[in-house]
Amino acid sequence: MEQSIHLRRKGQINVVLKNSTPQPAVRDAPIGYPKAEGQDWLQSPEHAPYQRMQESLDALVGLEEIKGILKEIYAWLYLNEQRRQQGLLVKQQALHMVFKGNPGTGKTTVARIIARLFQDMKVLSKGHLIEAERADLVGEYIGHTAQKTRDLIKKAAGGILFIDEAYSLARGGEKDFGKEAIDTLVKGMEDRHADFVLILAGYPKEMDRFLSLNPGLPSRFPFHISFPNYSVVELVQIAEQMAADRQYAFDERLYPVIKNAFSQITEEEPPHFSNGRFIRNLLEHMIRAQAVRLLDERNYERDSLMTLKKQDAEIALKNVKFT
Ligand SMILES: Nc1ncnc2c1ncn2[C@@H]1O[C@H](COP(=O)(O)OP(=O)(O)OP(=O)(O)O)[C@@H](O)[C@H]1O
Ligand SMILES: [Mg+2]
Repeated sequence: MEQSIHLRRKGQINVVLKNSTPQPAVRDAPIGYPKAEGQDWLQSPEHAPYQRMQESLDALVGLEEIKGILKEIYAWLYLNEQRRQQGLLVKQQALHMVFKGNPGTGKTTVARIIARLFQDMKVLSKGHLIEAERADLVGEYIGHTAQKTRDLIKKAAGGILFIDEAYSLARGGEKDFGKEAIDTLVKGMEDRHADFVLILAGYPKEMDRFLSLNPGLPSRFPFHISFPNYSVVELVQIAEQMAADRQYAFDERLYPVIKNAFSQITEEEPPHFSNGRFIRNLLEHMIRAQAVRLLDERNYERDSLMTLKKQDAEIALKNVKFT
């Protein structure tokens, strides 16, 4: 399991440590690319970083475009190394990124995978991920913000600094200290660009606006990655997978209930619908509903303990929050 310190209080930084769990089996071809002949190169030990990344990506439903981009980044970093070894010119390119996506669309999960890949490929020395938000950067008086932001960049050196809802840095306009944070970040990107990756994340519309208001910014981020909302089919797959991870399975009659609910949600698009996070919460509610049901039935059969039923989903859907 990913070890993480999840203290989501204001001003609190989430330090997420590296993943150390064994992952599912390696795929035989990169995702997002046509299946080419003779890809046994993937199995060779020198491509261990790629294999590790692929294993983690395999655990994610959908996100085909992102998987393709990561494969490109891997190929490009690997080829740069080959060029370097043959004395060819290798231009240092920053790896800063903008992630645009609604809550629960996999941004943090993908950032962790990238951090580990960059560490495995020796692009980053530590490969840790620091998740921060406005309150972690912006201070209360002149000079305070620059100091706070510099401290954060220092902590993130050798890893990734991930700023969620980054557009909120531009909230107060010219007079707001958020601008000082942006300027300090830009300076940090220039000073430390060899061993530090900055990811700015947030809702798509707000991020587009934020970037358009800061004309110097977009070009400093070579990678702009979109995280789409999940489709009904993907939401069902994520639910199945999360259930399987916890050694639960769905009874057949449960499917129409969740499919209906997911269709309604994806049609209505409630503001800030939390996608994968919603599924995780829903599953937790279903598991509790199942526990109450089985306790009432005094049914502790192995099969029953593992099966989530229609009525568990109905109760869970009444109680779970969409955001
Ligand atoms: N494609 C996917 N396949 C399987 N599980 C997923 C996928 N995307 C997200 N999840 C799961 O959904 C939950 C939320 O994902 P994550 O925290 O990466 O999203 P996020 O975009 O960072 O969300 P937030 O806006 O809440 O920070 C996690 O439990 C994650 O494992
Ligand atoms: Mg996140």
